[in-house]
Amino acid sequence: MSEKVFPKDFIWGAATASYQIEGSPLADGAGPSIWHRFSHTSGNTYNGDTGDVADDHYNRYKEDIALMKELGLKAYRFSISWSRIFPNGKGKINEKGIDFYNRLVDELLKANITPFVTLYHWDLPAALQDLGGWTNRDIAYWYTDYTDYMFQRFGDRVKNWITLNEPWVMAFVGHFMGEHAPGMKDLYASFSVVHNQLRAHSKTVKAFREENIKEGKIGITLSNSSHDPATDSQEDKEAARLAHEWTNYPLFLNPIYKGEYPSGIKEHASEFLPHNYENDLEEIKEKIDFVGINYYSGDLVKLDTKSFLGGKTVERGLPKTEMGWEIYPEGFYKILKGVQEEYNPKEVYVTENGAAFDDKVVNQEVHDEKRIEYLKYHLEQALRAIQNGVTLKGYFVWSLLDNFEWAWGYSKRFGIVYVDYKTQKRIIKDSGEWYSQVIKNNSFEF
Ligand code: FCB
Repeated sequence: MSEKVFPKDFIWGAATASYQIEGSPLADGAGPSIWHRFSHTSGNTYNGDTGDVADDHYNRYKEDIALMKELGLKAYRFSISWSRIFPNGKGKINEKGIDFYNRLVDELLKANITPFVTLYHWDLPAALQDLGGWTNRDIAYWYTDYTDYMFQRFGDRVKNWITLNEPWVMAFVGHFMGEHAPGMKDLYASFSVVHNQLRAHSKTVKAFREENIKEGKIGITLSNSSHDPATDSQEDKEAARLAHEWTNYPLFLNPIYKGEYPSGIKEHASEFLPHNYENDLEEIKEKIDFVGINYYSGDLVKLDTKSFLGGKTVERGLPKTEMGWEIYPEGFYKILKGVQEEYNPKEVYVTENGAAFDDKVVNQEVHDEKRIEYLKYHLEQALRAIQNGVTLKGYFVWSLLDNFEWAWGYSKRFGIVYVDYKTQKRIIKDSGEWYSQVIKNNSFEF
């Protein structure tokens, strides 16, 4: 056994997202989001589950912050629901939506927990979808009008801002695979969504700089899985490289840091990008303060000429989580190290990492050893990354609470706190107790 000690001032947190936990999506004058619409359309989610009640966090936020305090969290990442603030996406402001987030932020600060706010975690106002949503170029303006207003209303107390959560998932799972809202299946739409999210992101970063928020920092959160070649063949190596460039941080960080799409995208997919996309690249290249990395799993990639960008994943027999995702902590290190080597960000945060398991309540306790093990192995790799030069400043476990896991509804539990959806009772799982000790000691035994 050895002790894994983290740097002093390391930020330990937990993450959630508005539509997944809040419930009451239409309360107090809020407008519907695309996830409200999507989940209310039959056949889209497991069991027809919706975010109508979720964790009822909209009403129970105080109790939840008390739990965070009990766990000793230093930071909390949550997202703002755009359509609570602008029910139609733009124009009329709903002051009651502002009130909710004011109460939340003030309560967090009272508990000494630093808020990290995600400005967009997939719940686009439905009214904007009717205008083409992320495929409409004007969204860069709609989005920045909204985000700039958030800086003005919360910037006195919220210092850490994340523009977008996992824009790859928004673009491809939402617009190509049709499994997430808005449920489209159009590759051209997906690439215009990638491009417009980048434009929206950069305009917002500029607006943020102009607001001059004291000690303010802004970054973006990207999805990643470790794609490794199935064999040593050139073909499989190339397939893995393309999968990495297309689905991981390079798709967004290359334009943001270098003003160009990754070479694989330019070579193989530029026909899908909007006409004259090159004209926007100068504007997209804009300094950010940190990169947010989400990481859950890895896979092996093999050449497959029939699939988009020529790759398919193959089994390697590693243990999996309840999502069917391979547990591959080594890949976490590779992603963290890769991002530092390729873009050298000033700061990196792990904005999500965690696992779903089939948790059972036994005598009001949840013994989720597998989650503890998952977290241990991943934190070990995070520490290894720090020791090897990665500017990793904090880690947010996904998730604080069991919640609405998008198309999987309530069938997958990611929380370090269990939620009984019938009674809304919360039970801190063993992993929550374990994480709490890690925070307290700033270290763990491995
Ligand atoms: C990420 C999402 C988050 C959650 C986890 C399991 O892709 O950002 O909302 O669903 O996966």
